[in-house]
Amino acid sequence: MIKVQVPATSANMGPGFDTLGVALSFYNTMEVEETDKDVVVEVSGEKPQMLVNPKHHLIVETIDKLFQLAGTERKGLHLTCDNAIPFARGLGSSSAAIVSGLYGANALLQNAFSEADLIKIATEIEGHPDNVVPAICGGFTVACQEDSSVRYVKCSVPKQIVAVVAIPDFKLSTAKARAVLPQDVPMKDAVFNMSRAAMLVAAALQQDFHLWGKMMEDKLHQPYRFPLIPGADEVIANAKEAGAISCVLSGAGPTMIAWGTEDKSCAVAEGMKQGFAAAEISCETMVLTVDNQGAVILP
Ligand code: HSE
Repeated sequence: MIKVQVPATSANMGPGFDTLGVALSFYNTMEVEETDKDVVVEVSGEKPQMLVNPKHHLIVETIDKLFQLAGTERKGLHLTCDNAIPFARGLGSSSAAIVSGLYGANALLQNAFSEADLIKIATEIEGHPDNVVPAICGGFTVACQEDSSVRYVKCSVPKQIVAVVAIPDFKLSTAKARAVLPQDVPMKDAVFNMSRAAMLVAAALQQDFHLWGKMMEDKLHQPYRFPLIPGADEVIANAKEAGAISCVLSGAGPTMIAWGTEDKSCAVAEGMKQGFAAAEISCETMVLTVDNQGAVILP
């Protein structure tokens, strides 16, 4: 039996739309074994209906895709999924499912595919690389699609840098959050984002994580998405007031993520909670660090 652990992820990091991402210290696990029967899927934890039906199961579809690419027929499957990552909240649940399937299938295929192969395949399935790359590599990642391949660079983030996530009690699909984005953006907004994203990456490479946190302003996606997320402005204001270096949308939202240091994390979490509460939305908060390991096969 193969057991895979995949971290939650937060994409965009403010200015790095579809490019930057980070792996976070909470995880989905999946056990998979080949059987002589049909496909059986057991799910515990987060359990949306579409993840329980073996006929339309993202992990099963992903396993099938890898076997197909390997030109190998698979047997039956028994999957046991323990999902901690909430669904449709901007914390990479679909990427975690895709990466679980690819890692499980690759282990069953005696590691026929390299990490770069798996990143390329995962990006094709997900549509953009900014969640799947940190889910696979861990750390803070920069990714860029180039024709049919994906270039990526990983940078580890020290444990002293803490992320507070506030996960509101409603779902927002990535499709809906992408549908509100404009087709074209003003040049000055593009330059604004380009300068912050470049500085953010430079700061990470210099291990200046205070500057890294400061460079998370964005004009390309958040302003268009905030109307879909009641309380977002107040969550950001409260998080900064409580000592966060920055507070941005996690991926396409609706989760908000604030970056800072451990000593301020309780106050930041409380401020974020009150920001959502002012819009009559309840939320769960978690204090996390960056997972620098990425997806692993557990012993
Ligand atoms: N970069 C993506 C977006 C992440 O913001 O739409 C969500 O999957």
